[in-house]
Amino acid sequence: MSKKSATIPFTVFSLRFLIASVFLAGMVTWAVLGTASVSISHLDIDEDPKATTLEARASSRDSRSAAPDRRLHEANLPPRIRQSLMAWREFVANNFAGDEACAECHAAEYAAHQRSGHSRTLTLMTKSILASELSEQGMHKDSRREQEFTFTATADTFLVRDEANAPGIAVPVTWLVGSGIHAQTPIAVDELTQKGVELRWSSFAGHVEVGLTPDHERFDEFVPGSIECFGRPLDASDIRACLGCHSTIAAPPSIPIMQSLVIANVGCERCHGPRKDHVDLAHHGFAEQAKPMLKYENAEAYMDACAACHRDENSVHPDAKAFELARFQPYGIKRSKCYLQSDGQLTCSTCHDPHDTVSHDRLRSIAQCVNCHDGAHDAGQEAAGIVKAICSHEPSGDCIECHMPAVEWAGEISFHDHWIRVQ
Ligand code: HEC
Ligand code: HEC
Ligand code: HEC
Ligand code: HEC
Ligand code: HEC
Ligand code: HEC
Ligand code: HEC
Repeated sequence: MSKKSATIPFTVFSLRFLIASVFLAGMVTWAVLGTASVSISHLDIDEDPKATTLEARASSRDSRSAAPDRRLHEANLPPRIRQSLMAWREFVANNFAGDEACAECHAAEYAAHQRSGHSRTLTLMTKSILASELSEQGMHKDSRREQEFTFTATADTFLVRDEANAPGIAVPVTWLVGSGIHAQTPIAVDELTQKGVELRWSSFAGHVEVGLTPDHERFDEFVPGSIECFGRPLDASDIRACLGCHSTIAAPPSIPIMQSLVIANVGCERCHGPRKDHVDLAHHGFAEQAKPMLKYENAEAYMDACAACHRDENSVHPDAKAFELARFQPYGIKRSKCYLQSDGQLTCSTCHDPHDTVSHDRLRSIAQCVNCHDGAHDAGQEAAGIVKAICSHEPSGDCIECHMPAVEWAGEISFHDHWIRVQ
């Protein structure tokens, strides 16, 4: 996992008040979600008196609808952590305005962003369409294991069970990750233990039934009764990374992972920085006083901003295969002569509106290539070493098919290889 991806953005803002905590160091061993045997003594967290008692929870296993409460409640946190949490809440409230606050003045960017997967890449499972579809279907048979998952949804829980292999255990799914343009993968986060699981089944665009989550062939073998029954175990840093790339902001590691602290989706302020001051000033006609906006000084800084999530050479495994690399657009672009030899003129914005969903209009894409590769160049460009070669092979064909082909990644999902080259 990349170093970058795991770090939370906006560390530039002083977080000194957030005492580096050993909170996660003494973390309890994984306790199966929903069992009463969870040890939380290390954390000094009291069970919420209002939440189900342990006995009630144990007996609730028999009643199909009752859900174990696996969330942390602020009132039960140790004072030191509660203080950090309150400081964090205040920091967020004082600095972030939220996407809706931008809509009135930047209607075009807002509308484009609504179309983009960025704006809906993290959904609470209980609020998702998939949850109601699955509870209607009732169950899913695994394609590779002798296993049957059953689903029960209520207004505030979505529970997964496998009575044959993990009797009495109900896993409450927390988040549905991904917009569904390609896929949506559910994760369960157990706030009491700060561990989780990426479920073995995901929803894929164009398919009614859920299917195997990409890369889960590796987990075909599993120990019955363990969390592996349900999917890939996640530790706290895996969960933070996952939420970190699919959210606008999530709390730093000194604060426990809590659903209520995540600002879901890659919102305006993930790329432009917290802009509450800009909104406040703009309402009084002083929008420009809140500059500098998070500006991308040059192509390199731009590339880094996207690479924090879309990934470049710093986050790819040395033996990553070509089909895996095609998924990481900054990795490819940074290797392309189009980027390296165009004097800092090429960024993702040359071909995409960063606010909008990807256009599949091929003529538009070709026009973008030809815009540079037109054979003509002025003296300044020549001096800067910008050569605009015309294809000697098929100058009027579909450039993308040959120089940025779609590479199959998993199942029917493919990505266009952004390492633009003669293949
Ligand atoms: C009340 C109107 C208003 C609201 C609300 C508002 N803006 Fe602006 N914004 C402006 C104006 C006016 C400018 C142009 C300022 C200038 O460059 O002189 C601007 C400029 C910008 C720019 C370009 C800055 C540049 O360097 O060229 C960005 C980016 C931006 N706003 C983002 C946001 C975001 C994100 C939000 C929501 C959190 C937001 N704005 C909310 C009025 C608004
Ligand atoms: C380093 C940042 C990063 C991390 C960590 C990360 N993702 Fe993503 N994820 C992305 C980016 C960027 C995309 C869009 C490009 C792509 O599809 O690969 C994406 C796409 C997806 C999609 C497809 C969405 C769609 O419909 O196109 C799913 C599903 C997904 N991620 C699930 C997860 C889950 C589950 C985790 C954690 C267990 C996770 N991701 C961790 C960055 C990340
Ligand atoms: C994925 C990152 C990203 C997100 C999310 C994002 N922006 Fe931007 N935005 C950019 C980049 C990059 C630019 C610089 C312009 C360019 O290169 O095309 C920009 C430019 C702008 C500008 C200046 C436009 C101009 O023509 O000068 C405004 C205004 C703006 N964004 C507002 C918003 C608002 C409002 C949202 C949320 C609804 C938003 N942005 C979400 C990356 C983002
Ligand atoms: C900002 C200008 C720019 C854009 C846009 C651009 N290129 Fe390039 N491209 C260059 C430059 C500069 C070079 C290196 C000099 C040359 O070969 O002309 C280059 C080189 C190439 C090469 C040769 C690569 C090699 O390794 O020898 C190919 C193939 C190519 N571009 C295809 C494309 C395609 C296809 C697109 C559209 C998807 C595109 N380019 C968009 C500027 C651009
Ligand atoms: C906080 C992490 C993050 C950052 C930073 C980020 N992205 Fe993304 N991006 C994602 C994720 C996650 C997705 C997949 C969204 C989904 O579920 O469909 C995505 C999807 C996209 C898409 C496809 C959207 C669609 O609807 O087809 C484009 C294009 C894109 N990003 C461009 C950019 C550019 C350009 C930048 C930098 C200016 C950038 N992103 C920065 C996380 C990020
Ligand atoms: C049918 C596949 C195909 C299509 C379509 C195609 N190219 Fe090429 N392109 C090639 C091949 C093969 C070469 C290598 C030619 C050689 O080395 O003799 C090449 C070479 C290039 C080069 C390097 C300069 C050169 O000619 O050696 C550039 C730049 C380029 N193509 C750009 C483009 C652009 C822009 C488009 C779209 C307008 C395009 N190509 C369409 C296959 C294709
Ligand atoms: C030279 C043009 C060009 C540049 C620069 C470029 N892209 Fe793309 N991108 C494309 C084309 C062409 C497609 C395929 C569109 C289609 O489906 O027809 C694409 C597709 C995508 C997709 C959809 C998934 C896929 O691979 O098909 C994402 C996400 C994406 N680009 C992100 C980025 C990011 C992030 C950057 C900057 C690091 C970037 N792109 C730079 C041309 C470009």
